Amino acid sequence: MFNDLCCKDKIYRNYVGGEWVKSETSKLISINSPVDGSLVGKVQAMSKEEVDYAIQNAKEAQKQWDKMPINKRATILLKAADLLDEKAEEIANIMVLEIAKDKKSAISEVNRTADYIRFSADTAKNMAGETLPGESFPGTGKGKISIVNRVSLGVVLAISPFNYPVNLSASKIAPALMAGNSVVLKPATQGSISALHLVRVFQEAGVPAGVINTITGRGSEIGDYVVGHPLVDFINFTGSTEIGLRISGITTMKPLLMELGGKDAAIVLEDADLDLAAHNIVAGAYSYSGQRCTAVKRILVIDKVADELVKKVREKVKLLKVGNPINEQVDVVPLIDDKAADYVESLILESKEKGATILEGGNREGNLIYPTLVDNVTLDMRLAWEEPFGPVLPIIRVNNVDEAISIANKSEYGLQSSVFTRDINKAFYVANKLEVGTVQINNKTERGPDHFPFSGVKASGIGTQGIRYSIEAMSRPKAIVLNIE
Ligand code: NAP
Ligand code: G3H
Repeated sequence: MFNDLCCKDKIYRNYVGGEWVKSETSKLISINSPVDGSLVGKVQAMSKEEVDYAIQNAKEAQKQWDKMPINKRATILLKAADLLDEKAEEIANIMVLEIAKDKKSAISEVNRTADYIRFSADTAKNMAGETLPGESFPGTGKGKISIVNRVSLGVVLAISPFNYPVNLSASKIAPALMAGNSVVLKPATQGSISALHLVRVFQEAGVPAGVINTITGRGSEIGDYVVGHPLVDFINFTGSTEIGLRISGITTMKPLLMELGGKDAAIVLEDADLDLAAHNIVAGAYSYSGQRCTAVKRILVIDKVADELVKKVREKVKLLKVGNPINEQVDVVPLIDDKAADYVESLILESKEKGATILEGGNREGNLIYPTLVDNVTLDMRLAWEEPFGPVLPIIRVNNVDEAISIANKSEYGLQSSVFTRDINKAFYVANKLEVGTVQINNKTERGPDHFPFSGVKASGIGTQGIRYSIEAMSRPKAIVLNIE
């Protein structure tokens, strides 16, 4: 039964209404590996009518799913988590090919996703409503009591990006399902084969027909139609700020949860443990070639310790393994496509033309950009402000802590920041002033652990994710008021 997902001529189908279906459009999108150009598979470009059908299925199935006791929904999700762990190797191998993620990170993504699903099931089972006594409010007597419980929203549209095709799909699907919603998943086109395998796992675990449905096709072609669909009750989007802005412009009266781009700063103060800072900065900036929203995307270092820090960072950058993730375990992999590499290269070249010093890297082979470290970056350079989503790290030297905070906050983004210092008072001074969703003290910027709140301000997002926060975002409080004599 599960072979229906694929695979005559590597053509993948969509999961709609409990069946793996072929598109009537006969329009196929070839998914080629960013590593070597080989064909990973073909996915279907769905028509508007097929999108309608998928969303209608989700609408109809939601009512029964919502009626299922939460402990039964949890049992299904727990099974999905176990199955995902069992299939970690198989799915990771697809991710290595499809999105050029290194094998270790791919396996870790699948296992982390299984943990995410388990934690979502457990959290939802343990969430409780509340009763509010009316008498607290002036003029209200003892007999008025509000019983408040969280209820589902309906159909959740989950749109995920290429860089975590399994995790950033499941981190929408699992909380949405536990809250009693049905889901329509539109994965990133490059990443959709990995995401379809995730959906197959939910199917195998026993999620009823119609409760999860998938839509494949280019976002540029069907995206506007999908997000504007009248039967969609909530949109949970992770991706670029550009597309996030587009979606929020199109949708009206539709609640949104969005995690978008970032320009996370690592602020290094005079008294920092520079070995610790260098270790975290390099791991944070270059893993998966910097294609992470939370990657360290700029260093703001106090001039007095800049030379010493730069030396340590440089030594570690030299040790990064660069290459082909299909053949070996590497740190820096080819970027998702040539367009992404062109963009990263343009940022490096512009900074060089304007006088920055390329300490390491700066070279490129096709879509593989070597780990690049750029010193003496100044505020007139694009590299100081734009999100490369690639393995390039600018160093901006500053005179004092307030200058670092001011430059950090001038960014259009506000996802995370790190501060490295041995002084807890200074750490809090900086953390309290930074305009971001999360500040990490003496650690790299990163999303996990996944039950922590994860949010971006300014151009980095709307709303808060994180297991309980996501369940809350995809449900609403409903009040029933008792009026006792
Ligand atoms: P993207 O180009 O914005 O695409 C994200 C998703 O949106 C994909 O599924 C894409 O489908 C879809 N899409 C494209 N156009 C659309 C439209 N008009 N309407 C609806 N959906 C549309 O982002 P990406 O290149 O996959 O990921 C890189 C970006 O995401 C970076 O900026 C990064 O910072 C951000 N990101 C943020 C977080 C976070 O949690 N803050 C996490 C990961 C990534 P197609 O693939 O078919 O175009
Ligand atoms: O790319 C965006 C992800 O939300 C980042 O997650 O910090 O675990 O790599 P991560």
